[in-house]
Amino acid sequence: MMKYLLGLDIGTSAVKTVLFDENMQAINAVSEEYPLNQPQNGWAEQNPDDWYRASLNTIRAVLAKSNIDPQSIAGVGLSGQMHGLVMLDKNDVVIRPSIIWCDQRTAAECREITEKVGAKRLIEITANPALTGFTASKILWVRNHEPENYAKCAHILLPKDYVRFRMTGEYATEVSDASGMQLLDVPKRRWSDEILRKLDINRKLLAKVYESADVTGNISRQFAKASGLSTDTVVVGGAGDNAAAAIGTGTVKNGRAFTTIGTSGVVFAHTDKLSIDPDGRVHTFCCAVPGCWHVMGVTLAAGLSLKWFRDNIADNYKAAAAKKNVDAYVLMNEAVAGIPCGSNRLIYLPYLMGERTPLLDPECRGVFFGLSAIHKKEDMMRAVMEGVAYSLSDCYDVLKGMDVNVDNMMACGGGGKSPIWRQMLADMFNCKVQTLYSEEGPALGVAILAGVGAGIFKDVVSACDQFIKTDSICNPIPQEHNYYEKGHALYKKIYVQLKNCYSELVNL
Ligand code: XUL
Repeated sequence: MMKYLLGLDIGTSAVKTVLFDENMQAINAVSEEYPLNQPQNGWAEQNPDDWYRASLNTIRAVLAKSNIDPQSIAGVGLSGQMHGLVMLDKNDVVIRPSIIWCDQRTAAECREITEKVGAKRLIEITANPALTGFTASKILWVRNHEPENYAKCAHILLPKDYVRFRMTGEYATEVSDASGMQLLDVPKRRWSDEILRKLDINRKLLAKVYESADVTGNISRQFAKASGLSTDTVVVGGAGDNAAAAIGTGTVKNGRAFTTIGTSGVVFAHTDKLSIDPDGRVHTFCCAVPGCWHVMGVTLAAGLSLKWFRDNIADNYKAAAAKKNVDAYVLMNEAVAGIPCGSNRLIYLPYLMGERTPLLDPECRGVFFGLSAIHKKEDMMRAVMEGVAYSLSDCYDVLKGMDVNVDNMMACGGGGKSPIWRQMLADMFNCKVQTLYSEEGPALGVAILAGVGAGIFKDVVSACDQFIKTDSICNPIPQEHNYYEKGHALYKKIYVQLKNCYSELVNL
């Protein structure tokens, strides 16, 4: 009998649930959205019950559409947004809304963590400097600002792990997502007693840590009744969204990497030997391949830069696209194709939201440098795409500086669908950039993990070799690489020259 696997991607805007057969062909997929609440500028919260409800509804919808015997679903894999803080009381009731990854309220708590642990020791153990996005500072914020909530807390879970708890009754997490809590000893792949002691956090609050393909439990009787799934179906650890995308893109061996251009941009490389940037400019996390890690740089306004340009400056493209019933980005790509490499000597810095890698600078902002009366909207549009690619090259350069070599780069996310953007990446990275046949990314990744946990596949790497198929290839063009090398050097110089001006701007 054919076996099936379910992958859930519990993202920031929606849950996407995909049913695959044992050949990893997607049978059907259903998404359900939920709100993001911003009670104050820089705050971001979601309701964990919304994630649960959307997960339940999409599982039911997928089952209803597919007409298969639920007993033939061997395993479920969970992926999703990282870092969010879910607190449960002793009766397993959610205490307060989840403070999620993009919330920026915890600058003071990051200073507290650095003081208590020591900057160098913190990077040695957690492989990252204290960051507002990560969970530890969110836990301290609740303790500092809502002591009555902290006193009630009996369990701390990450977003996908809360959904797992509702599906299986188990308090469990796995190494890739746990790495983003800043409480894990990333080299040793287990909770750090030293960090927990220095931050005075009780280890009993934390979930049990598994490897990503390990079985963490079975579907509970209660959830089976609600969803239509079988109690024979296992739920594996799964992975944080980027680690899951790595499996879904076959980024599971040394030399393999992917670049995502979504709202934010990520350059992600696999490494089987631990590699930590002592300056903390890129994140090192445990990956979903047992005993391996990944190194990842993040640029905050990647696709967001082009979306901002489309909505605020190129609104005529939006209007024309609506008339023709096509996507505005398709028309924008056609227009950019007519502009030469270098955008007629125009450079854009994509720091609309400040920047993570490599600057770790919340104050910097976007710039068009070199504007002349000859420039048209389309030159600016190409400059925006080039500026995002320069910023992704910054991430790539940090990885190369850490001896994480890349000979196989995949392009993903909405921006990865643009052949022009892929060509820019190939030219700047000076390596071939490929696309993938399947677009299911994280959901495919965790469904493969579920197949390994359920015993259908031997291991993660051989399953990726078997099922991940690449599509088109973009090769670097030597003249364009030469141009962009000089362009990138100037791009970096502009930030250095402006660094002090950004602080002045904040204080104007
Ligand atoms: C990773 C990160 C995001 C979130 C949300 O560090 O902040 O990728 O996981 O998708």
